[in-house]
Amino acid sequence: MDSFEFNKIAMAILGTVFLVMSLTFLSDGIFHSSIPATPGYLVEAEDDHSDGASDAPTGPAYEPIDALLASADLAAGQKAAKKCLACHVFEDGGKNKVGPALYDIVNRPMGAADGFSYSAALKAYGDGKTWTFDELNGFLWNPKKYLKGTAMGFAGVKKTEARAALVAYLRSLSANPVPLPASESETASEAEAETDSETTSESN
Ligand code: HEC
Repeated sequence: MDSFEFNKIAMAILGTVFLVMSLTFLSDGIFHSSIPATPGYLVEAEDDHSDGASDAPTGPAYEPIDALLASADLAAGQKAAKKCLACHVFEDGGKNKVGPALYDIVNRPMGAADGFSYSAALKAYGDGKTWTFDELNGFLWNPKKYLKGTAMGFAGVKKTEARAALVAYLRSLSANPVPLPASESETASEAEAETDSETTSESN
């Protein structure tokens, strides 16, 4: 091989290296993705150990359900709500049992069922608060952990998807369901939705 041939090969190799490097550099600049502050959705891993509390996720104690509510499976929610029937009545005008009547619970003031004697813990915690989607999410994830001292003897619904379905079902138990949470901010307005407009909003 003469030196000219060698130079050609060396240049080819160098050129390739240079090309790859600059492409990497460029694509990094173009496709650089920053991680959003709040994830658009959370992937719930399948677990087949039924509802064992042992496989509690590490990291945040429970995951938000706002983004899941619009597409939640109401039938699954109703099924999950069977666990509540031992203590709660869901019908309009239903009576208090072991637990307070729960018709129209979303955005209802905490501890407000007529004639039910709530625990001191719930009364203290719920003072001035309402059962927003967020509060229900935390409470139903693990009542005793979320609200220390509550009289509600229920283990909680650990699976995010199931909890979203349950809360979506609770929301449906109303003549005038509370609007679904906006993608990011919490809309406290109960008015607006006079009709039973089921808005299935696309949120990403
Ligand atoms: C073993 C009985 C029992 C079961 C099962 C149970 N609850 Fe309760 N729940 C209670 C009691 C008792 C209270 C009152 C808690 C307190 O005063 O601290 C309560 C309170 C509540 C409240 C607060 C109501 C208010 O007026 O402030 C909500 C919401 C609720 N339960 C939802 C549920 C849902 C949803 C389920 C099913 C997934 C469920 N509960 C299962 C007994 C139960």
